[in-house]
Amino acid sequence: MIDAESPTPGDVRAARERLERELQRAFAEDPPVSLQDIERPAAGERDVSRETSEAADTVRRGRKKRKKRSRTGADSAPVAGQATERRTRVIGIVNQKGGVGKTTTAVNLAACLAVAERRTLLIDLDPQGNATSGLGVDKSALDANVYDVLVGGEPLRSAVIPTAVPFLDIVPATVDLFGAEIELVSAIGREHRLASALEGQVEEYEFVLVDCPPSLGLLTVNALTAVGSVLIPIQCEYYALEGLSQLLGTIRIVQKSLNPGLAIEGVVLTMYDQRLNLARQVEEEAVEYFGEKVYSTVIPRNVRLSEAPSFGQPVILYDILSAGAVSYMKLAEELIERCRPPENG
Ligand SMILES: Nc1ncnc2c1ncn2[C@@H]1O[C@H](COP(=O)(O)OP(=O)(O)OP(=O)(O)O)[C@@H](O)[C@H]1O
Ligand SMILES: [Mg+2]
Repeated sequence: MIDAESPTPGDVRAARERLERELQRAFAEDPPVSLQDIERPAAGERDVSRETSEAADTVRRGRKKRKKRSRTGADSAPVAGQATERRTRVIGIVNQKGGVGKTTTAVNLAACLAVAERRTLLIDLDPQGNATSGLGVDKSALDANVYDVLVGGEPLRSAVIPTAVPFLDIVPATVDLFGAEIELVSAIGREHRLASALEGQVEEYEFVLVDCPPSLGLLTVNALTAVGSVLIPIQCEYYALEGLSQLLGTIRIVQKSLNPGLAIEGVVLTMYDQRLNLARQVEEEAVEYFGEKVYSTVIPRNVRLSEAPSFGQPVILYDILSAGAVSYMKLAEELIERCRPPENG
């Protein structure tokens, strides 16, 4: 294991830029990517692109009145692409933009799924380790963390620890993980480390959520290779959708080369303030772009959500009656609903 102090931010940036250059070189001939490219139906599948624009119209007419969505196999979050063959839903919480609510969503959605008695594992894939501290885990007292799994080849289960929430376990992250991006760059199977680590290790869980760092570096590429789908939090702020085409481009590259089953699970609007025109504008733009993929549940700006991590608690434990807790419970219900297998006949 390397000395956690040794990699400088410059080293990490250089490693990331090298990887991005390699990815871009490999797919230099590809045109810009749209959601339809990612969701393009193969022969015999439904036409998602048409449904998406129809859905956008419906939503524009009034999201609240929207009828219950039709459920087909393609609607449900796919199982992990390369990680597991069972019905474990492995979902990455991804957006390379910083501070959009990835960790808040990962921690609180995971806790709410667990409260709904769905066995859930949260994997902290961010060297900042905010999901780890947000669930009250003492980083100094760990036997193993996600770095040992990705770089050291330790079994995933050796790094799993229970949390204060029944049904919720976590694979924690520490600053060690800053080194992983550099060390893995020249490693064999560098993009598949997480996918391989999940194999045969997560069957007991119904949901596995992966909290990603704010970059499109090797850690995020590992997440995209391992998950069945991605949930993209979008902060209701200026330039909210900026950078999303780059994210979709990376998803497309991973889909082509590393994880053909990768899908967009959904888009969640965070820090929503319904009094602001800006929030409604962002919502409209998101629906325009992502159609039905935009979750009906929006997460309001709520001070309890920002206080809870400093008490090492998900908001559902910190203040169950807060608007933040209620909204993440609704989000969990919506995810469960969207993941329900299609009804036959
Ligand atoms: N709905 C919300 N209401 C109020 N504060 C929020 C909300 N969601 C997130 N925050 C706060 O915004 C900040 C950024 O949130 P968070 O850490 O979840 O973003 P992130 O995307 O994980 O950031 P990073 O890219 O650095 O990993 C945190 O201080 C968090 O407490
Ligand atoms: Mg985060």
